[in-house]
Amino acid sequence: MLSNQVKIAPSVLSADFSHLADQIKLLEEAGADWIHLDIMDGHFVPNLTFGPPVIEKIRKTTDLPFDAHLMIENPERCLQNFCDAGVDQVTVHAETGYHLHRSVEHILSLGMKAGLALNPATPLSSLEPLLPFLDLVLLMTVNPGFGGQKFIEEILTKIERTAELIKKSDREVWLEVDGGLNEENVARVVPRGANALVIGTAIFGKEDIPGAVKNFREIVAGSKRRTA
Ligand code: DX5
Ligand code: ZN
Repeated sequence: MLSNQVKIAPSVLSADFSHLADQIKLLEEAGADWIHLDIMDGHFVPNLTFGPPVIEKIRKTTDLPFDAHLMIENPERCLQNFCDAGVDQVTVHAETGYHLHRSVEHILSLGMKAGLALNPATPLSSLEPLLPFLDLVLLMTVNPGFGGQKFIEEILTKIERTAELIKKSDREVWLEVDGGLNEENVARVVPRGANALVIGTAIFGKEDIPGAVKNFREIVAGSKRRTA
């Protein structure tokens, strides 16, 4: 049964990479649920970040689940590497790779949870065939590649429709939202069904990182109460 708590998944893309281990410790102490790892290859998205060697090093710093968001072409080629590095769940993009069902099956066979990410322009029809196999759906509310971008309001309807699809599937699937989340729009995505929130700049851009995580926890609790 999915816990009815909304997961807060800070994206370390916006963290201070020169003190990544310390920043992750801060997140854990503040009660963050998952660590969101934005993996970018400079091809699928116009940015390049990090991969399994870095993940392996930071794996030792926390027991929090590693939520890897693969913004890379042909992700099927390196799923084993992410598994070996200690990733708990892997999300691949509907727009990458030629054999998405095979990638999802491979992720599951490695013992990780499987997610599918949809860019803002990608329709939900891409999700439907795979929904029976997924643990998580990731809806992009920015065009992927960078932190600090503006939330795309029009995705609110897509969140609601995805929540309906998940409900109809009668499966336990997380609905994760990623990009441009802040103290204002979080209170609008949660009532529409988002139950995992990727937050980068709105946490790491603050002086008090633990305080920012705790503040989001309060906002989420408040927005959930409104729907109760
Ligand atoms: C964008 C990444 C997001 C991003 C979120 O491609 O997938 O996870 O880092 O950062 P903010 O919250 O700053 O938009
Ligand atoms: Zn992400």
